[in-house]
Amino acid sequence: MEELKIPTHVGFILDGNGRWAKEKGLSRSEGHQAGFDNLVNLSKYIFNRGVKVLSVYAFSTENFKRSQMEVDFLMNLFVKAFKVHAETLKENDVKVVFSGRRCEPLPKKVIEAMEEAEEMTKTCTSGVFNICVNYGGHAEIVDAVKNIVNDNIKVEDINEELFNKYLYQDLPPVDLLIRTSGELRISNFLLWQLAYAEFYFPNIYFPAFKETDFEDALLVYNKRDRRFGGIKDETKNN
Ligand code: FPP
Repeated sequence: MEELKIPTHVGFILDGNGRWAKEKGLSRSEGHQAGFDNLVNLSKYIFNRGVKVLSVYAFSTENFKRSQMEVDFLMNLFVKAFKVHAETLKENDVKVVFSGRRCEPLPKKVIEAMEEAEEMTKTCTSGVFNICVNYGGHAEIVDAVKNIVNDNIKVEDINEELFNKYLYQDLPPVDLLIRTSGELRISNFLLWQLAYAEFYFPNIYFPAFKETDFEDALLVYNKRDRRFGGIKDETKNN
């Protein structure tokens, strides 16, 4: 059997916690808790499988429009989660980084928990876990432009490599994007980094997305013919 090609960078839109909970007669908060518990196991599996960078969409800039109760629950979960998860990731030599605006309306306690998790894992080198919080793809591009202007970078020095360095994190491009729950949108996630990503939209709510579902995603990814705008790879059987 041919060995599977493993994507270097996987992007993950963790969608469907609310619908998963509703189907089970549980509260939305219980859905988010189940989503987080699943993420702890799944992320460990994904790194063990050889993925080097995992980016997850934990909270968008738009998610602040949700009810105060849901936002408060998620913020408290993040504070606890970043601590617990950072310890697990450290044991697995994975560095935690965050993408997004580190300012209001994001509570100070969340920003502090993020900084602690980054500090705790900063020397880890086997993988990078990029957690997107108060994140928007348009905002990331606008913020990069502002910083390029503030740094007085000469126009002739601006190129794609330099621009990438001005994003929240200087990461390789996303190879495989997974969005659970059956929605077919990218919702302002990693717009720059997704330029040539393969998209996979399983009809499974995030808390129910397990290791075997990730294996299915890998199989689909391996069947895709990535051309990056070039010519067709004739060595593949399509
Ligand atoms: C989308 O489901 C999920 C979120 C907005 C929150 C994601 C958070 C977690 C999985 C838990 C914590 C994660 C980390 C990284 C600590 P939804 O609420 O939009 O579901 P619905 O569309 O079914 O209502």
